[in-house]
Amino acid sequence: MTPRPARAPAREGARAGAPVRLPPAVTPLLARLGQLGDARGVAVYGVGGCVRDWLLGRSRLTDLDVTVEGEGPAFAQAAAKAMGGTLQVHPAFGTATLQLPGRNPRRRIDVAGCRKETYVRPAAYPVVARGTLEEDLFRRDFTLNAMAVALNAARFGALADPFRGREDLQRGRLRVLHARSFLDDPTRILRGIRFAQRFGWAFEAQTARRLREALAAGALGWLNAGRLERELTRLLQEPDPAACLRHLSRLLERAR
Ligand code: CTP
Repeated sequence: MTPRPARAPAREGARAGAPVRLPPAVTPLLARLGQLGDARGVAVYGVGGCVRDWLLGRSRLTDLDVTVEGEGPAFAQAAAKAMGGTLQVHPAFGTATLQLPGRNPRRRIDVAGCRKETYVRPAAYPVVARGTLEEDLFRRDFTLNAMAVALNAARFGALADPFRGREDLQRGRLRVLHARSFLDDPTRILRGIRFAQRFGWAFEAQTARRLREALAAGALGWLNAGRLERELTRLLQEPDPAACLRHLSRLLERAR
């Protein structure tokens, strides 16, 4: 079902905003991460798809994405020390994955430092450098996946929404953050189709045009086999994979 249009909220900067109602089952864990950030003097945020899901009132308890204004792996190490679990650091990417102890095997936290990305050529892996929270949000696929929730005690639950993702979420509108988005990362074409089908959302007009242009340029063919396979597998794991494939086929028709 497409969410009803809602009145546009006041522009929210990358650091301020209306509080987000967090799922009670995950709030203590998020508060703990914020306290660890306080102890280390770094700002910590829940970010991306989990923020989108919390704003939708879905209690996403697993696969949390956390971004810190600082070194991601160092913060993840501190979290592992304080909370236990298994830590995997990915030095090449400056990220870490913490698998928390307990009965839920998917209680996983992916931690990264805020980063900005530059694409030297379309569909290549980006060159990554340390960045601000706003730059970290700007490098993402759609505005509704480009929001963060502050976890430090003083601002716990405050939404950072510099690109009006909350408004797009309320309107069920998939909007890319810049003109080259689908060319830089063509997996976003398939990601967008997954979200459109899963949530009943639509591509905003300019985004739809850019998506058609990317398809017409053959952008899906630029992906290496591994990335394409991973994205297609995720698409086939959606609740209605046939609808996703029909959507893709319609878009390919129109792009001809
Ligand atoms: N992301 C992105 N571009 C990609 C992959 C990921 O911008 N090609 C960002 C988005 O902000 C996304 C977040 O990284 O929300 C987490 O990625 P992932 O876990 O793949 O996506 P989710 O949005 O959580 O999707 P799902 O609900 O299907 O798990």
